[in-house]
Amino acid sequence: MNNTILSVRGAGKSYKSGPETLQILKEVNLELQAGQSIAVMGASGSGKSTLLNLIGGLDNADCGEIESCGFQVNQLKEKELTAYRSKAIGFVFQFHYLLKDFTAAENVMLPMLMRGIPRKQAKAQAEEALEQVGIAARSGHYPAQLSGGERQRAALARALINRPKLILADEPTGSLDEEHRSLVEDLIFSRIAESGTALLLVTHSGELAKKADRTMLLREGLLQNP
Ligand SMILES: Nc1ncnc2c1ncn2[C@@H]1O[C@H](COP(=O)(O)OP(=O)(O)OP(=O)(O)O)[C@@H](O)[C@H]1O
Ligand SMILES: [Mg+2]
Repeated sequence: MNNTILSVRGAGKSYKSGPETLQILKEVNLELQAGQSIAVMGASGSGKSTLLNLIGGLDNADCGEIESCGFQVNQLKEKELTAYRSKAIGFVFQFHYLLKDFTAAENVMLPMLMRGIPRKQAKAQAEEALEQVGIAARSGHYPAQLSGGERQRAALARALINRPKLILADEPTGSLDEEHRSLVEDLIFSRIAESGTALLLVTHSGELAKKADRTMLLREGLLQNP
């Protein structure tokens, strides 16, 4: 049985900056199986978030192929892209991107409502998810009324709520204290163990990286063994 959730082959990405072209990713190759976790490390500016954005369908690769959860990500039309983003993957961004006009609970409910789950059921599940990340008491707060770490945890609850096949997490514990960091890490890794979710995790923390099955290093536009 083929259990490959993510396959990236020869992905490249450059940005134009004035007359110069910055080749951020040269030729990235990566495979991730169901239930497997890979931590990506690398210097600031090496292209880690860029890579997650390509896989998450938020930006287009210049070349190469990205197949994720059965979708050819670089060939998707807008409608399929929305389906891919809202159903197949859970993206935990480096910066939280909660919608500011919605409460924490409503932010978490949104991916479920997009899937057609009735409001009452979505609400109950969102409350439970917020409980899991330790901010049930803040469910009615708007993002501006949450601390940085609370926002990060609400964003995590939102990313996990649809039980995605693939979790893309960019520094998911960057703004958390030690206690909440381990709570969030345990939640992510228990989800992988329980439901065979695959995880691609970007982190600067060697300790967090150790919890993944494998660590890779992004350097000079290539994903390498450390
Ligand atoms: N939209 C853009 N236009 C031009 N340059 C960009 C754009 N997005 C990213 N870059 C450049 O690409 C490089 C890689 O950025 P990226 O955000 O992927 O780094 P990173 O590895 O995630 O760094 P960090 O660890 O600081 O989060 C940076 O030098 C950045 O300036
Ligand atoms: Mg980054």
